[in-house]
Amino acid sequence: MDPKAEPPILVIYAHPRPHLSRVNRPLASALEALPHVTVRDLYRSYTDYDIDVVAEQLALARAGTLVLQFPVQWYSMPALLKLWVDEVLESGWAYGPGGTALRGKSLLVVASTGGHADSYGPDGTHGHTIEEYMLPLAQTAVLCGMSWLPPLVLHDADQVDAQALADHIGRVSGVLSGAAGAAAS
Ligand SMILES: Cc1cc2nc3c(=O)[nH]c(=O)nc-3n(C[C@H](O)[C@H](O)[C@H](O)COP(=O)(O)O)c2cc1C
Repeated sequence: MDPKAEPPILVIYAHPRPHLSRVNRPLASALEALPHVTVRDLYRSYTDYDIDVVAEQLALARAGTLVLQFPVQWYSMPALLKLWVDEVLESGWAYGPGGTALRGKSLLVVASTGGHADSYGPDGTHGHTIEEYMLPLAQTAVLCGMSWLPPLVLHDADQVDAQALADHIGRVSGVLSGAAGAAAS
């Protein structure tokens, strides 16, 4: 198999306070080292929130799989990632009449939460499953003709030990390696 033929995986990484990150920063570094993976760090690139929509669309058009990587904040994504979705997934490009740029691609959320796994669910503190909180992104994928992949979530992220973090990085890396292979076949 010619590795150059494999459509790349684009990781859009958004962490508002990367210097405080225990989980997402090392994860983004590990993913960056994988073949076929490009990581775009929104909070490093757009300190002024002035997103280069054309550059982002070009990167996205080249990718087979879009990964959104972020710490869950108030049951949602960080503000700059929301702005990225708002501005990059334009009508007539990502959806709507003539909007076919993302058709056939896949969307994978890689997120972390401070809450324990059992705090997410009807009987937990947060009242809903993490998948339910991801519904706007899942439906965004549908609207854009993308396949929604099961989210990879690390719970209890503020407390995880080094082994649990290494396991998570290994799990995400394995899924991305599989996604690159699947996209190429
Ligand atoms: C402003 C803010 C809002 C947060 N909201 C949530 C939340 O809604 N649910 C949750 O489980 N954790 C929440 N957290 C905890 C973060 O998700 C957690 O600290 C992060 O995933 C850890 O990843 P990191 O080590 O890369 O920063 C929040 C943290 C901050 C700073």
